[in-house]
Amino acid sequence: MPGVPSLAGMPAEFTVLQMILFREGLRNAAPMTELARGLSDAEIEALAAWYAALPPGPPDDLPPRDPALAERGRALSARHNCGVCHLPDYRGRAQMPRLAAQREDYLIHALTEYRDNRRVGTDTQMNGIMYGMPDEDIAALAHYLAHAP
Ligand code: HEC
Repeated sequence: MPGVPSLAGMPAEFTVLQMILFREGLRNAAPMTELARGLSDAEIEALAAWYAALPPGPPDDLPPRDPALAERGRALSARHNCGVCHLPDYRGRAQMPRLAAQREDYLIHALTEYRDNRRVGTDTQMNGIMYGMPDEDIAALAHYLAHAP
């Protein structure tokens, strides 16, 4: 749904860590904070394993690809080493989420939150990477990644 990330194909470790951040009130995103409350570690691990095994997106309502914007996003991704941590095909690994075929609107939201220090994770790497990035660059990155196979 608009604004809601796709979970299929996410590395299990990423989902586990985010659910724990929600449960402990360290990451706030209604309604997740409420939904995660009371889940045991074993239940969170089972949920994460289930989602990790599902084939990922793209969403049905993926906006059409704009080749110039996607090319700009590709160049920005190369310059900022996004594929070093998230892997060259953006499938994610360990605590680093899948970015390929993620919702464009959610990517813009997540990247803006890191930039503005409204989201912190288990570390501050993403906040450092996004520091000072203009909205136009965030839009280009999100467009490129949403269309990555
Ligand atoms: C040094 C390693 C590293 C690099 C480089 C990196 N990331 Fe990340 N990224 C992470 C980690 C670790 C997380 C999970 C952080 C957390 O717990 O919030 C993350 C999370 C994200 C998320 C949140 C996704 C979600 O589902 O909530 C997005 C979007 C993202 N990264 C995009 C990018 C983009 C775009 C770039 C390049 C501009 C990039 N990352 C570069 C390590 C990295």
